[in-house]
Amino acid sequence: MCRAGLALVDLQRRAADKFARAGEMFFDREGLEMATREEVARYRAWRLREAGDVADLCCGIGGDLVALGQGRTVWAADADRRRLAMARHNGEVYGVERAHFVAADVQTLAPKADAVFIDPARRSDRRRRRGEEYSPPLSWIADVRRRVPQVVVKVGPAIPEQDLPGACEVEFVSSSGQCREGVLYFGACATTSRRATLLPNRHTLESAAGPEVSVAPPGAYIYDPDPAVVRSHLLDELARQIDAWKLDPHIAYLSGDAPGNSPFIRSYRLICWQPFQLKKLRQTLRDQGLYPREIKKRGFPIEPPELQRQLRIPKGGHPATLLLARLGEKPAVFICESAANSADSM
Ligand SMILES: C[S@@+](CC[C@H](N)C(=O)[O-])C[C@H]1O[C@@H](n2cnc3c(N)ncnc32)[C@H](O)[C@@H]1O
Repeated sequence: MCRAGLALVDLQRRAADKFARAGEMFFDREGLEMATREEVARYRAWRLREAGDVADLCCGIGGDLVALGQGRTVWAADADRRRLAMARHNGEVYGVERAHFVAADVQTLAPKADAVFIDPARRSDRRRRRGEEYSPPLSWIADVRRRVPQVVVKVGPAIPEQDLPGACEVEFVSSSGQCREGVLYFGACATTSRRATLLPNRHTLESAAGPEVSVAPPGAYIYDPDPAVVRSHLLDELARQIDAWKLDPHIAYLSGDAPGNSPFIRSYRLICWQPFQLKKLRQTLRDQGLYPREIKKRGFPIEPPELQRQLRIPKGGHPATLLLARLGEKPAVFICESAANSADSM
């Protein structure tokens, strides 16, 4: 097989993590990296199910197109002709029948669809996180909004808060426990101001006013919220829903007295907790016959693998989870064991 063929096979192998039909699809390396995973694209297409015809601007290799194009007309545009050809082929693989392709700078187009989906490029330089450094820049969305009633824009999960425009719904989506993307919804498709959604099960949490959540010492359980909940700043909504409190106003671990029946958290039974001090922690783990199988942190200066090395606890003890956090200015460690969540897993 020639070098190009081998490279494609390698990309198809890597793409199997994102697409069920990866083995039949065409990719370039960067196009695959930027492509939306199938489960996320399907969810977004479902959110736009009432929208009618859609324009997929910056369609790339067609990761979104394969879902958006099911049962409706789609106009797909990208400045990169090679990628556009890949999107056409990948659409066919997924049975997309009514797609029209345009090779153009999308900023020169005047889309007339019922809805527009835009997925700007943002990965060629990994530090590119500001909305104005996207291609096209986020400020261009205002032009599109003047022409099209519903506009949906994908943004990076690490986009700074101040770059998120007002007057839209901001949704953060996680898949298999990782926050994959933020999405801005403008027009009738926006149904709240903030939302966190967990895939594959589409559990969704919306912003809602309510009483202030208290800050207090830990109860019998510590809850580690899904990253989409943390990123969307819906911690108070979650805490009210599961009857929990905060351990610190700025740290995203919650606590409560019950095991916690919610898909939005991982729940841990607290064995004990102490101010963080390496020797003391090592002693406690040894005394209790615990092996720190999992170490997680929030707002804590030491990286988990480094702590694992420094602790030098041999395997074989009862498996424990260490949750490291800063309470006020003081580092603390919560020694826990995993509690089985009775709700669907994240
Ligand atoms: C993030 S990728 C799109 C990924 C796509 N949604 C998918 O799931 O496969 C962004 C794409 O935007 C294209 N692009 C960037 N600036 C553009 C512009 N001004 N006009 C048209 N396409 C542009 C790039 O060529 C790239 O393919």
